[in-house]
Amino acid sequence: MKKGNETMRTITWNDEKQVIEMIDQRIMPQEFKINQYGTYQGVADAIQRMVIRGAPAIGAAAAYGMALAAFNSQASSTEALLEDLRVAGKRLNQARPTAVNLPWAIKRMMHAAQGFNGSADGLRDHLLRLAKDVADEDVEMNKRISEYGAALIEDGDHIVHHCNTGALATVDWGTALGVIRMAHEQGKRVHVFVDETRPRLQGARLTAWELDQYGIPYDIITDGSSGYLMRRGMVQKVLFGADRVATNGDVANKIGSYMLALAAYDNGIPAYSTFPISTVDFELERGELIPIEERDQEEVLDITFMGQQVTPERASARNFAFDVTPNRLISGWITEKGVIYPPFMQNLQAAMKA
Ligand code: MRU
Repeated sequence: MKKGNETMRTITWNDEKQVIEMIDQRIMPQEFKINQYGTYQGVADAIQRMVIRGAPAIGAAAAYGMALAAFNSQASSTEALLEDLRVAGKRLNQARPTAVNLPWAIKRMMHAAQGFNGSADGLRDHLLRLAKDVADEDVEMNKRISEYGAALIEDGDHIVHHCNTGALATVDWGTALGVIRMAHEQGKRVHVFVDETRPRLQGARLTAWELDQYGIPYDIITDGSSGYLMRRGMVQKVLFGADRVATNGDVANKIGSYMLALAAYDNGIPAYSTFPISTVDFELERGELIPIEERDQEEVLDITFMGQQVTPERASARNFAFDVTPNRLISGWITEKGVIYPPFMQNLQAAMKA
């Protein structure tokens, strides 16, 4: 990520202190702070509280969390270490339910641990190397995705973007926002309508901050504005990410994505979901089977306007963090294997073989 003249990642391993460092995304953009985590329980907690968020970033956090668990374990045999890793994997897996990247990363780490032949210390080093690979691959993958996606963007496009899918949502660079950034770096003039993305305001806080860093023009819009802008001919593309994709092509993403895709469909505007193929859950046939996180109602109710609490004291709220967009509303998937058009699964398989 670009912060002024510096380049940094949302999550890194500090070799000297053997701790994980993460940018605290809860307090951005007003404060920019790096937190250190020395236990896997701390990492799980950070994922749950959204210090780190965005599907690919929490996958990397889980991978580093498993490596951290290995380094903190007192086990002297690989069997005992494996047992400690199972416990850590279970806790990390419970942090947030929707993004498939979390179980995907834990499974990858466990699989590598189970197949390892050597000492417990050897396994610790092996897992740390793998966690670093998971992080590096994410950055590389995002750039490949962005190259494919940028080819769809035309000079002068106005793009509605939902939530935050940039460098902050990944290890670095980003997916849907990475596409926009790539198009901008290629010299295309793009303008972004940034959905503010209630209740945690990832758009207004994080996407707007990133666009400032990259020098990409934008306007923040309130959630629900995009339909009106589309009807006025002010939008050429809709881009969002994905937290989990079912094999029929349904996409779970930040709450509001469905309504956005619906408005785009009604106005004949292409809506693309952008993600690495590891976001496809090959075990789930339909979007309705995707577990949807419901978060604390305080996130919705704790809002002030003109210095006053907005909601009545006894108000209650429901806070679904994600929704599912049916495949028929999605024009294409932008992936590291290219842009996949419907029928999604058939064309994905062909692209994977190519
Ligand atoms: O609740 P969050 O902020 O973790 O939700 C993030 C999103 O919904 C993103 O759009 C998705 O993870 C893709 S990020 C590349």
